[in-house]
Amino acid sequence: MDDFSRFKVILSQDEIERTVARLAEEINRDYQGRRLFLLGVLKGSFVFMADLVRHLHVPVEIDFVRLASYGPGTKSSGKVRLVHGPGASVRGKDVLVVEDIVDSGLTITFLLEYLRRRKPASLRLCSLFMKGSPQSFPFPIDYLGAQVPEVFVVGYGLDFNERYRNLPDLRELTTDQDAEEVVP
Ligand code: PRP
Repeated sequence: MDDFSRFKVILSQDEIERTVARLAEEINRDYQGRRLFLLGVLKGSFVFMADLVRHLHVPVEIDFVRLASYGPGTKSSGKVRLVHGPGASVRGKDVLVVEDIVDSGLTITFLLEYLRRRKPASLRLCSLFMKGSPQSFPFPIDYLGAQVPEVFVVGYGLDFNERYRNLPDLRELTTDQDAEEVVP
């Protein structure tokens, strides 16, 4: 059994549910009468995307991209590349990127630039979580769920070494054993 009860809860399942519903309400209002192209960033966004779309009333097309950092598994190299997708053209569409978390901003900076060059009718960003402050990024997070503390968080799609994506809430990875693995 995967014992995660020792991890401190940062956002409960209930708080996340209410946050997702609030974001969907804003999106429904802003995109009324339009058709929305939702582009999720794998893998982390798969849980958020699944919950978000079930609150949306506007017609949606759903696609995913997969990105990776260059170098030996770190994001700090600053170089991001597209591994997969989007499968469909974004040209002329109202594109809304769906992210689970914006941290350094490298991933999303790369993706927004990549998409902008492909001439969507509009391009916006929805991120459930973010670390740091919105002022530290060179772009607006049009739909933001919650700011979270600068700790290693897992759950609701977010992983540590591919584990804990299935937790229904957001937790801080805190045990000595895991901390040793997180901090090399
Ligand atoms: C996470 C997260 C974002 C990105 C944010 O993905 O899902 O896509 O990191 O970090 P940044 O703002 O510092 O670029 P990750 O690369 O861990 O892949 P995963 O979604 O497959 O877990």
